[in-house]
Amino acid sequence: MPLTGPKEMFEKAYAGGHAVGAFNVNNMEIIQGIIAAAEEERAPLILQVSAGARKYASQVYLMKLVEAALVESDLPICVHLDHGADFDICKACIDGGFTSVMIDGSHLPFEENIAVTKKVVEYAHDKGVWVEAELGRLAGIEEHVVSEENVYTEPDQAVEFVERTGCDSLAIAIGTSHGAYKFKGEPRLDFERLETITNMLPKYPLVLHGSSSVPQEYLDMANAFGGEIPGAKGVPEDLLRKAAKYGVCKINIDTDIRLAMTAVIRKTLTEQPAVFDPRKYLGAARQAVKDMVQHKIKNVLGSSNAI
Ligand code: G3H
Ligand code: 13P
Ligand code: ZN
Repeated sequence: MPLTGPKEMFEKAYAGGHAVGAFNVNNMEIIQGIIAAAEEERAPLILQVSAGARKYASQVYLMKLVEAALVESDLPICVHLDHGADFDICKACIDGGFTSVMIDGSHLPFEENIAVTKKVVEYAHDKGVWVEAELGRLAGIEEHVVSEENVYTEPDQAVEFVERTGCDSLAIAIGTSHGAYKFKGEPRLDFERLETITNMLPKYPLVLHGSSSVPQEYLDMANAFGGEIPGAKGVPEDLLRKAAKYGVCKINIDTDIRLAMTAVIRKTLTEQPAVFDPRKYLGAARQAVKDMVQHKIKNVLGSSNAI
């Protein structure tokens, strides 16, 4: 099956009350682990590539790996640019065959965010490519921006933003954040705000970034075998599942994949110190990615058998 855009996936997600998982990919093992999980669950899939991933593996290598997956799999797969910082990176990905891009102008003043989003929308739509934009700001570290505080999305502004830019989906800030340290106190998402935005933008696909749950089991494993990730706290899975029942059609997960791989690699190398064949620990990491993604599909996204 050829690469697909997310339109049909989101329509089904909206109607079915589930969300499509968008997982960050950086190498072959991650791509293979994610696809193996989605295959078993018969779940739709978005593979997303950040600027950092493009720098690490190169866009061409990542696209060729996805193409290899398409030969072996009949799953609908969308390739998406995550957090495109400007028009040029969006254009490079559109020209390189991505079926969806994110232009992230969330750190810009409102009018500037509108201007750059509109420019990307015009170029992308001309080529049949989907555009995600962002309004509001998530706390945490992203490659190009560090934000200390959440700036929650204003519902009125969200409607105006969508109308004026023509963007196809919108990432909103309701309390999630990037990385492993999401909450200082009790985890909480602003469901009232989410409900208001959903009602004001009916049938419109919303996106949640920063949606890792930082499972204790993997945190314990990573900490038990050297290194410390103290005080990490993610978004509880039941809150994400609830968000998918509103207008959230895409849920972004990266940190939990990183955590699963690191925990299992640490465990393998500590328990088997004689191992120096990379296939031993990278193979174990690939299995950990598969297990993690399968868990997300079943317990967070609700997207099993949704293709
Ligand atoms: O939200 C950002 C993603 O986790 C990607 O992270 O820029 O380190 O690849 P990265
Ligand atoms: P996490 O790193 O919190 O999983 O967020 C991923 C993300 O939002 C990618 O855009
Ligand atoms: Zn993000």
